Amino acid sequence: MTPGLFISFEGIDGAGKSTHVQALAQAFREAGRAVVLTREPGGTPLAEQLRALALNAPMDPLTEALLMFAARRDHLQQVIEPALARGDVVLCDRFTDATFAYQGAGRGFDLAVLGQLERWVQSVDALPAGQLRQPQLTLWFEIDPDLAAQRLAGARAPDRFESQPAGFFRRVAQGYGDRARAEPRRFARIDGSQPREAVWQQVLAAVRRKGWLA
Ligand code: TYD
Repeated sequence: MTPGLFISFEGIDGAGKSTHVQALAQAFREAGRAVVLTREPGGTPLAEQLRALALNAPMDPLTEALLMFAARRDHLQQVIEPALARGDVVLCDRFTDATFAYQGAGRGFDLAVLGQLERWVQSVDALPAGQLRQPQLTLWFEIDPDLAAQRLAGARAPDRFESQPAGFFRRVAQGYGDRARAEPRRFARIDGSQPREAVWQQVLAAVRRKGWLA
């Protein structure tokens, strides 16, 4: 059986990842693969309810971190693990790196506590004890926070994260950089400041380097 693939998409708000999630799904489908296109927080009825709360209701940083991981656990159990067991390609718009970047670097929440939550939540039945479910590839859309803010301006009513000041997004961007440096083999850096077609070519190249698309 074809093994499943787990690919996540990350970057600060306005980095422009979302259109490429769709395009990559199409490319895998054309290559004959079954694709599950999903997002975090969200991806299940329960996790989508938690998303609505996390993005809109005021709360303290621990509550926010717990909601992100609670949504993630449900998403893993209900959607991601079954899909990988079937051999599907799972394309996930954000995963745990977003929690380290937004709740950790952005909000200043304790990274060691996030690490503990990551170990609990991403321990899954299909993997040996001590091994965590992580994406095999993380496409990290890096962009200057000021440029990202320009792109977002006026696009729609901002949520609790999108309405944060520039300093927050500079910290989030650094948080992604720290995660990428810690796991250089999992991360592929995509220069999100380029025009859309050039960004897409970078996405394709990163996936082809893994040997997953011809
Ligand atoms: P996003 O993925 O940008 O979706 P949309 O394009 O519909 O706005 O929005 C999700 C927001 O949630 C984003 O601002 C980042 C935030 N977030 C966290 O703070 N922590 C997390 O763990 C995740 C997954 C997302």
